[in-house]
Amino acid sequence: MAGDRMRTTAQPGHPADPSAPAAHLPVLYAQVMDGLRVVADGRYLDGTFGRGGHARGVLEQLGPGGRLLLMDKDPEAIAEAEVNFGGDARVSIRRGSFASLGGWEQARDLDGILFDLGVSSPQLDVAERGFSFGKDGPLDMRMDPESGESAAQWLARAEEREIADVLWLYGEERQSRRIARAIVARRAQQPIARTAELAELINSVVPRGKDKSNPATRSFQAIRIHINRELADLETGLDAALAALRPGGRLAVISFHSLEDRMVKQFVARHAKAPPANRRLPQAETFVPALADLGGAIRADEAELAANPRARSAVLRVAEKLDGQGRKAA
Ligand SMILES: C[S@@+](CC[C@H](N)C(=O)[O-])C[C@H]1O[C@@H](n2cnc3c(N)ncnc32)[C@H](O)[C@@H]1O
Repeated sequence: MAGDRMRTTAQPGHPADPSAPAAHLPVLYAQVMDGLRVVADGRYLDGTFGRGGHARGVLEQLGPGGRLLLMDKDPEAIAEAEVNFGGDARVSIRRGSFASLGGWEQARDLDGILFDLGVSSPQLDVAERGFSFGKDGPLDMRMDPESGESAAQWLARAEEREIADVLWLYGEERQSRRIARAIVARRAQQPIARTAELAELINSVVPRGKDKSNPATRSFQAIRIHINRELADLETGLDAALAALRPGGRLAVISFHSLEDRMVKQFVARHAKAPPANRRLPQAETFVPALADLGGAIRADEAELAANPRARSAVLRVAEKLDGQGRKAA
């Protein structure tokens, strides 16, 4: 039982490895450690290893009897995990989406699960990955380059309407139709194969906004979310996480996009609060909460924002699994 376990204290605000390069600064580090409430002999899963900033913090607090399971879709992240943690007997590593964590035998009775969503700094920084409109590279954008179609392949075949819908839905791009029309016109002449080509095309049809941000920002984000099925994975992953936690276990999710955060918020609310009374749903009276919401949206403070601008849109939510009768586990 968690209450019997030796509790270790969270580090006050900094990665366990202070020499980690600034580009890999884990977002909301102290808040994640507090939220996960790591116990020395607990079992944890980091479903989005990235470069291991948060994973390193969990490992620091685990004793010899603890376990840390690491997942990432990205083979480069997994290679990094193997190099840095593969020799640690407490660590198991698996390449794949956290949406598939239910199929991992070891991912049972967990004390804590972290999903730190979106892309990592190394993915954005390496031009060949094709995530960045600021760095010319092949228009790929897949977190797992061996699965599914690349952004270039999708843009070569998708209907204009579908492209516009993706830009509007995942990028809140008000010029979505105009951009989609321009993409379809351009690809009739030549394939759009490079990030710089797509960025220039978008810039040629969308004026720079008042905030001076690159007009391609929203479209690149939207295409990336679509190509990697990020919202579908999150939906499946949240259900799988709830099933994999033991009573008393904690789920911590950091999102960077309002649609993701809404999904997490609604997921927690659905499992924590009885639905409003409704004549057609008398079973609402027998609702038994499966989760406790531990405090709503948590955001980066001024100090973190000054050190790491990527934290600006980050929202952390933490929930605790209840005991099956709607009570906190002892
Ligand atoms: C923001 S980074 C995580 C950073 C990490 N917490 C750290 O401190 O280094 C997101 C990572 O999650 C991975 N990722 C995103 N969606 C995923 C999914 N559905 N399943 C597994 N990995 C995913 C990406 O490939 C990327 O490496």
